[in-house]
Amino acid sequence: MIDLHNHVLPGVDDGAHDLEMALRMLDIAAGQGITHVACTPHANDRANGQTDRLFQSAFLELQAAASERGLPVELSLASELMLGADILRVLSLPFATYRGQKKYSLIEFPVETPFEIVLNVVKTMRRSGPRPVLAHFERFSRAQRIAEQVRSLRSEGAIISLDAGSLEGQFGPVMEKRSKQLLEWNVVDILASDAHDDAAHGFRLKAGREAAAAIIGAESAARLVLDNPRRVWEGLPWPQEKDEG
Ligand SMILES: [Fe+2]
Repeated sequence: MIDLHNHVLPGVDDGAHDLEMALRMLDIAAGQGITHVACTPHANDRANGQTDRLFQSAFLELQAAASERGLPVELSLASELMLGADILRVLSLPFATYRGQKKYSLIEFPVETPFEIVLNVVKTMRRSGPRPVLAHFERFSRAQRIAEQVRSLRSEGAIISLDAGSLEGQFGPVMEKRSKQLLEWNVVDILASDAHDDAAHGFRLKAGREAAAAIIGAESAARLVLDNPRRVWEGLPWPQEKDEG
């Protein structure tokens, strides 16, 4: 499996506290069959060259330590960007896209963001930059009132991702219900761990995949953790207009 959203990069946000915790997290990830981990620290309001250097040095340290421990996980660097007025400037920074390929970015919004704003951001990003992977989409209640809203976001180029743990109640019954509803509408592209630690908020991609399989079947669930994230990882084109139900 390929995980495109987590906070395993140590000491740079509210994720792994230190290198040891990050290595334990990666060990757990490997044990679940996760082979690729794109580190996505919060960049938020400090998206500048200094942050880039901080992320790059923390990343190189983690990569070297993971390799020394023999952890069978390939690592790469991106970030989780909070929507802000300067999003277009931020998108030009090296850590703003997966593996610096300028093809895909992980974006989050304030939870109350209206559907129209999310749609506009997606359109703007698609005109000038990378394709947006929308992080933990289940949180954005005002952008998913009806299936057509989510379908129009996807047809404008958004990729819909869920936190895997939402499907098994990690974030409470409301998130569980919404994430399952999105799967039933057949509008989900990717499951990601959003792991922050080596305990309850850790890599839970395997359990999320199993919860998804119970709703959409094993083959479709596999696409959410293998085929689709691989396109993002490798910077391959995203197929337009897939099988929307
Ligand atoms: Fe996150």
